[in-house]
Amino acid sequence: MTTSSKPNTFYAPPGLKGVQVADTSIGDVRGEEGFYHYRQYEATALARTQSLEAIWELLLDGALPEPTSTEPNHTFAREIAQSRELSTETLAALPALAAGTRRPHLGALATLPLLVPDAQPTLDISHQQRRRDSITIAAALPTVLSSIAALQQGLDPISPDPTLGHAHDWLRMASRSDPSPLQVRAVEAYLSSTIDHGFNASTFASRVVTSTGADVVSALAGGIGALSGPLHGGAPSRALSMIEEIGDPGNTEAWVLNRLENGQRIMGFGHAVYRADDPRSVLLKEVALEFDSELVANAVAIEEGILDVMRRWKPDTVIVTNVEFYAGILLHLAGLAPQMFTPSFMVSRVIGWSAHVLEQAANNKIIRPSARYVGPPVA
Ligand code: ACO
Repeated sequence: MTTSSKPNTFYAPPGLKGVQVADTSIGDVRGEEGFYHYRQYEATALARTQSLEAIWELLLDGALPEPTSTEPNHTFAREIAQSRELSTETLAALPALAAGTRRPHLGALATLPLLVPDAQPTLDISHQQRRRDSITIAAALPTVLSSIAALQQGLDPISPDPTLGHAHDWLRMASRSDPSPLQVRAVEAYLSSTIDHGFNASTFASRVVTSTGADVVSALAGGIGALSGPLHGGAPSRALSMIEEIGDPGNTEAWVLNRLENGQRIMGFGHAVYRADDPRSVLLKEVALEFDSELVANAVAIEEGILDVMRRWKPDTVIVTNVEFYAGILLHLAGLAPQMFTPSFMVSRVIGWSAHVLEQAANNKIIRPSARYVGPPVA
């Protein structure tokens, strides 16, 4: 950071890169090491061994459930399962909201206020009430997103099934199929490993909204809006399209060079923080390889080709495969249509935002930086 011409002000680098703006006990990313954690646990180790609900409980309440209660029926999981059901008022509003928007997350944004009709500013309510509001929204989001997507395609929404785990039920409602155990495991690995990831743009957005004392609905809506951008969560279907467009791995070099020479980005590669393998990409590749699929074999060869070009193109920068490259493949193999990829990310990351909303509200200071004026001189 450099000193500004204004008294007591520092000038932060573009994108606030490298600037620590808060304290958190929720987790962190160590980009140089290729490591990230949820509270005190390595995140991908949790994703390999714990249910999504157990990790959700850890992030919200600070501890994993007792070992005896990790089966899908433990109290927290039951609360989540029951909260997936939508109220009659919300169900009645869905057709109009779906008709008025073209992308599932935009319809979902308009639905959020209906999930918590009595939402009060976080400034005025207890931690328990904020926690309750966050669970109401995060648990219902899969039903909302899958229902809106169904209605936008002229189909009837599928109702939630409280006997299923959260990941399984999301996949069932969003893919409109009865998924195999491997497909459920693939989606659960994806959802569990993408819940939280440092002070990314959508987490920051949720915390900025919370810092004003606004209600949980507005704070989580801020996260959804930020995540929808292609440079953040809106890319997994683009990475999959790229693999399909390249087709034969032998075409990779020419295809990538052409894009780079035209100033375009290669989706699924590069990361603001990682300078070693993105552990999420490592986990998702591992699960993808369990599918007997030509797409996966092609993707592995194309990945190698892209990394090779990137190394030559930017020899001084480490550009790694990011989470979105294998995420797109895995979600496709799980039976989800591309328009449900970013909603899948939202179903997961809303849990992380919830933990951050609670943490911000518990020890709040309004986030209010300043900007350097570079316009015409003031007359
Ligand atoms: N394609 C082309 N150029 C790239 C890519 C890429 N995938 N990744 C990095 N670069 C370039 C940057 O533009 C930058 O160029 P410059 O020095 O001329 O400005 C240089 O490589 C170094 O970039 P970094 O500082 O390492 O990364 P930065 O913070 O600028 O960008 C980002 C990170 C936005 C994710 C970028 O890598 C990108 O656009 N990737 C493609 C989109 C994508 O996959 N998004 C999903 C990210 S994962 C997530 O959010 C969950």
